[in-house]
Amino acid sequence: MLTQEMLDEFAELKQQHDAVVLAHYYVQPDAQDLADYVGDSYYLACKAAELDCKTLVFAGVEFMAESAKLLSPNKRVLMPEPTADCPMAHMLRKQTVDEARLKYGDDLAVACYVNSTNEMKSWSDVCVTSSNAQRIVERLPQHNVLFVPDLHLGHYIQQQVPGKNIILNDGFCPTHEAIQVVEVEELLREHPNAVVCAHPECAVWVLDKADYIGSTSGIIDRCVKGSEEEYIICTVYGVLHEIKKQVAAAGDEDRKHFFFPKTTPLCPNMDRVTGQKVIACLRDLTGEVFVDERYADGAKQALQRMLELAK
Ligand code: 13P
Ligand code: SF4
Repeated sequence: MLTQEMLDEFAELKQQHDAVVLAHYYVQPDAQDLADYVGDSYYLACKAAELDCKTLVFAGVEFMAESAKLLSPNKRVLMPEPTADCPMAHMLRKQTVDEARLKYGDDLAVACYVNSTNEMKSWSDVCVTSSNAQRIVERLPQHNVLFVPDLHLGHYIQQQVPGKNIILNDGFCPTHEAIQVVEVEELLREHPNAVVCAHPECAVWVLDKADYIGSTSGIIDRCVKGSEEEYIICTVYGVLHEIKKQVAAAGDEDRKHFFFPKTTPLCPNMDRVTGQKVIACLRDLTGEVFVDERYADGAKQALQRMLELAK
């Protein structure tokens, strides 16, 4: 719980360091409430590239803060919880990329989900997020696309873009992969009219049950704008904070109900990003993000290509 004294200190620190706070929907609610902008990973990358400030506090995981630093190298980027990392961001071997390049030559593009290290991004031709992956893959001139590191998002895009030869890797998000289809079926038995909304990092069996598949922002929008009363949400529980805020603003808080799988999906890394840590990193200027120069140019090119192709 943040006290008024803490909030006053935070306002002063923001001014002193010309700081803007970005937060992902999965971090703790009090960290989301301190942010100037809360969004999905694509929205936050765009914000990082366009904002005019000296300091960015990135309440999220490492790959998000690193992307922000690459897209705005002159800003000081701080991570409130510097050890918050995404396990999927490490699930790709260079050999997989090399073998595909050898096999398909110039008719191959490597599309890399932003949930990846800068080194992986530097091996790739373009980055994608869950909200723009389909559009970008469709727009690539190459017929063959190696989609890395996420197997499930890659498989979903394979189904959406059948005209391309999409080659899959075996990375996955442990949190989304743990969502079981039986949990969704159980919720559907209890709420047969509910709309099932799922993040494309879920396994295909869960996605097959979904009425709506999209990024965190897409899921929030579907829940807020939908006329239905019940929603089963297959992504990290953190999105509920923003959903509740927007549903209350629309006067629908008594009419709409939201259900998550029984084993509540939590991202253990995002979960450690709290409001107190957001304030502390700005007070002590800790958790500064530096990028390894060996991968910076290649990774930045892949991110910038994403921003261009997603327009
Ligand atoms: P979004 O791009 O939907 O915000 O997803 C990021 C993420 O890490 C999902 O697990
Ligand atoms: Fe990574 Fe999964 Fe956490 Fe998203 S929810 S940051 S993919 S571990």
